[in-house]
Amino acid sequence: MDTNALIKQAEQQHLLSETQILQILEDRNCNASLFAAADRVRKKYVGDEVHLRALIEFTNICQNHCLYCGLRVENRSVTRYRMTPQQILQLTQKAAKQGYKTVVLQGGEDPYFTADVLVPLLRQIKAMDLAITLSIGERSYEDYRAFKEAGADRYLLRIETTERTLYEKYHPNMSFDNRLRCLRDLKRLGYETGTGILVGLPSQSLHSLARDILFFQKFGADMIGLGPFIPNPDTPLKNTPTPSLTSALKVMALTRLLLPDINIPATTAMEALQSNGRFKALQSGANVIMPNITEGEARKNYALYPGKAAAAQAPLGLRQELETALRAIGRRIGTGYGGHTHLFDKSHGHTNSL
Ligand code: 5AD
Repeated sequence: MDTNALIKQAEQQHLLSETQILQILEDRNCNASLFAAADRVRKKYVGDEVHLRALIEFTNICQNHCLYCGLRVENRSVTRYRMTPQQILQLTQKAAKQGYKTVVLQGGEDPYFTADVLVPLLRQIKAMDLAITLSIGERSYEDYRAFKEAGADRYLLRIETTERTLYEKYHPNMSFDNRLRCLRDLKRLGYETGTGILVGLPSQSLHSLARDILFFQKFGADMIGLGPFIPNPDTPLKNTPTPSLTSALKVMALTRLLLPDINIPATTAMEALQSNGRFKALQSGANVIMPNITEGEARKNYALYPGKAAAAQAPLGLRQELETALRAIGRRIGTGYGGHTHLFDKSHGHTNSL
């Protein structure tokens, strides 16, 4: 089938096979029509609101060795920090005052933050009437349950790649099966569960990306966060090529076609690769922005990849500026909690109440 016809089919039925996804990923001439179709599907299912999530990067201490990440335990050139629960609480209060309805607490896998430390904090944040998203890596079922009972609503845990051999190559001492176990536990506990990948890891093929997208659909993700892999000079992958923004946008747009009603952020890595990358993403299927409200040195030291700190800010400085920029592309800041509303019933392949 002609690639444009495939895109049309996906826009209407939200179904594509692995080889069909591959054909779209390989075809350089279909990009504009793919992005336009994803933009229409976004508008139809999740509307013109852009939901804001206040991102707090509360610890850059991490016990893992992920080959691409600047927070890996072997990296001695980053100054490590850990906020106190009091500092985290102050930042969430600031977020609430600024009108945010969701805070995202993100950190490295820092053993200090046991359930005993986090549970009272989550309870206090919940009392501020905020939706809480956690992004703190792999934990036990019991921890996930304790966080949920304390008020956490959503959880982000990227699978990074669904190709087991690649996963194991880039995550020494970690297990792909445990990653899947975590995602299943989160789902079972009733979290809105987000996952996602890095696009453009060395040795990652387009075929592999096609399978990643089908995994998102099969898993029934509530949120998908993805971005280009950006080589970090303080990691073993420092001398590997940087992928194009377009490749990441294509994976994101295909994700919107196949999971029409989920939340998809325009990620900071997209902005780091190209200024205005985040706005391009908002016009190619994304409906969420996660402004980084981490302050001072911590913001600088949460150094996943180069250019992150600068990209996180621009052009999100002031709500007013963002509002104006969004209005220029026909969008507005969301007023609610912006959770996942299930409009598309994938088991029957049809749309509910639309
Ligand atoms: N480039 C882009 N994204 C990265 N992440 C970590 N390191 C990099 C990098 N070098 C992403 C991972 C992780 C998220 C918090 O940041 O996908 O899940």
